[in-house]
Amino acid sequence: VKNDRESMMAVSAFAQKYFSYMLHKSDEGRSVGLSYLRDRGFRDDIIAKFELGYSPENRTALTDEALKNSYKLEFLEKTGLTIVRDNYKADRFRGRVIFPIHSISGKPTAFGGRVLKTDAKTAKYLNSPESEIYHKSKILYGIYQAKQEITRKDRCFLVEGYTDVISFHQAGIINVVASSGTALTVDQIRLIARFTPNITIIYDGDPAGIKASLRGIDLVLEQGMNVKVLLLPEGEDPDSFSKNRNTEQLQKYIDENEGDFIKFKTGILLKDAQNDPVKRAQLVQDIVRSISVIPEPFIRGEYIKECSSLLQVREQVLYDEIGKLTRKKR
Ligand code: CTP
Ligand code: MN
Ligand code: MN
Ligand code: MN
Ligand code: MN
Repeated sequence: VKNDRESMMAVSAFAQKYFSYMLHKSDEGRSVGLSYLRDRGFRDDIIAKFELGYSPENRTALTDEALKNSYKLEFLEKTGLTIVRDNYKADRFRGRVIFPIHSISGKPTAFGGRVLKTDAKTAKYLNSPESEIYHKSKILYGIYQAKQEITRKDRCFLVEGYTDVISFHQAGIINVVASSGTALTVDQIRLIARFTPNITIIYDGDPAGIKASLRGIDLVLEQGMNVKVLLLPEGEDPDSFSKNRNTEQLQKYIDENEGDFIKFKTGILLKDAQNDPVKRAQLVQDIVRSISVIPEPFIRGEYIKECSSLLQVREQVLYDEIGKLTRKKR
């Protein structure tokens, strides 16, 4: 007999195939879902590679089809594919384009569903709830499709969303995963660490993206890994930015504009601080705090050198500040 996990994996696999079938073969899926994806510029090979799909408007289209195929309502509910209340059943993702979230071995364990038209009262994305087979904080969108290339390139690009990952693939950059929003976790960083110690954060060029990059930097450093940051022009995200750029152009932009975290932090924070001595002091302390979480003393030393020259502060002053911080921690 199957255990719960196996039954949940099985119904998720069924749902993925159903959603893809609907996207490509049903009139509704083709005219609504597929044309939406094509209008956004996604190529058919990329739509297939990420097993994108479409969930029909009909309230119980998936649920009915799954039950007809002997999948149990219990597991439709446990995976969140069906919302069940007393005498009421409904497909969670109806009327949305589907982004399956694959486990590291390539099995769909959860889904993200995007509305076709955004408005103020509808959430742009709905996601599967936490379940026995899906722990959001432990998985990265795209890790299955990216893992080999992350090892080969010895670097991982970290972006915010589903479409950012897919568009980078389409532009020929494969070593990319998404934190699915901006709440990066230690477990997600450790997952990347299985393939490379080198991460480049490319979050959206908006205040939320910048704030999340600053937070991500410290999380990566704490794991003893190396972090670079690429700030995109205001209003752009990796999806929009990579459209109309070929692989060479995109790679060139990344090479020329990615910087280590000290350059990123000083760039952002100096804009606020200008020549205000109090703010400058706070800026120095903020950067020193990031340096102090780096476990390896030699690497800490290298960053202190760079920080010293960028901020025009003597190295000894920075070492003294770090000393104060590490004493406080104990
Ligand atoms: N997200 C989510 N729920 C929301 C909004 C966002 O789960 N209501 C997650 C999704 O994984 C999304 C990511 O956060 O891909 C980044 O959000 P955002 O930048 O707002 O969306 P985009 O990825 O740019 O989506 P799109 O290009 O389709 O508008
Ligand atoms: Mn579990
Ligand atoms: Mn965003
Ligand atoms: Mn975005
Ligand atoms: Mn976007």
